[in-house]
Amino acid sequence: PKTHPHVPSRTTVKALVESDGFKSIPSNYSYTAHPNDSDASDPNNTIPTIDFSLLTSGDPHQRSKVIQDIDKSCQEWGFFMLVNHGVPESLMKAVLNGCNEFFNLPMEEKLEFATKDIWKPIRFGTGVDIKVEKFFFWRDFIKVFAHPEFNCPSKPQGFSEIVQEYCKRSREVTMELLKAISESLGFEESYIEKAMNLKSGFQLFAANLYPPCPQPELAMGIPAHTDHGLLTLLIENEIGGLQIQHNGTWFHVNPLPNSFLVNTGDHLEILSNGRYKSIMHRAVVNNKSTRISIAAPNGPSLDTVVSPAPELVDNESRPAAYMPMKYKDYIDLQLEGKPCLERVRLPVS
Ligand code: SIN
Ligand code: FE2
Repeated sequence: PKTHPHVPSRTTVKALVESDGFKSIPSNYSYTAHPNDSDASDPNNTIPTIDFSLLTSGDPHQRSKVIQDIDKSCQEWGFFMLVNHGVPESLMKAVLNGCNEFFNLPMEEKLEFATKDIWKPIRFGTGVDIKVEKFFFWRDFIKVFAHPEFNCPSKPQGFSEIVQEYCKRSREVTMELLKAISESLGFEESYIEKAMNLKSGFQLFAANLYPPCPQPELAMGIPAHTDHGLLTLLIENEIGGLQIQHNGTWFHVNPLPNSFLVNTGDHLEILSNGRYKSIMHRAVVNNKSTRISIAAPNGPSLDTVVSPAPELVDNESRPAAYMPMKYKDYIDLQLEGKPCLERVRLPVS
């Protein structure tokens, strides 16, 4: 077994902020330990918005216009906000509430799922810097494997059903977006589905809890990273905290209510041979309200070997920029705490 973040109960962030006499953050949460990540953020919020309903309206002209917009957003930002996606607002609220209730369960019930093993289909934990194992992030989480097989804690009551429905609906939206992205890359719409074996594609459901932090400027919720997989759909409880890197600057993102925040993952960067970049993002914390976010990354099947699409490679003008790697092996690389994309990127002359 490999080592990985696993922290005993008393050190979850939630338990820490609820403990008697808690006033200031312990030094091992202090983010000043991480100088590379401390850039200032830009308050502007100009990430593109995509209207999902225009993709599925049946009007080919509108569809090709939206596909162009998606192409542009993925190339320029690697992020977009998705509106009119058809997933009921009530379901999005219910799943956020359900996660809140999960985090409110007695510690023993959550600890049942605490593990170091990232391949356990249900995993509860708290943010640890895996490079040093002594430095903590201001985040607790629950992660479940949602596809091809659905897993979920059975408590709180009704939680599993809501998470399952949310995962199903958000996966359907993702599949539709991946059809559009197949087209934006110049393929027929089922290209990615077939090439990435999406029928047994790996979907993760990761819910994050960021309790209020008395010294938010010193702590970090999630440090800068890119997501593995093809596309991640993110929702949150309307308390901002996500920042994305764009042209070398950190941007604070305030998602529109009832929208999905969509970002391209490492495997779309690889498959597109670098046309769509997987963008660095991080979560900062605040001293007022508890933030909950839910990230649902959808990737290839775990046994798919991902490499740049052969049609997008030309040995003369566009050589392959990434080496082939099985998706599962790629996820294992993350255990070493290094940016994985760097590990598969090939020197391109
Ligand atoms: C993530 O990157 O996985 C979550 C970011 C967020 O909480 O907004
Ligand atoms: Fe992420």
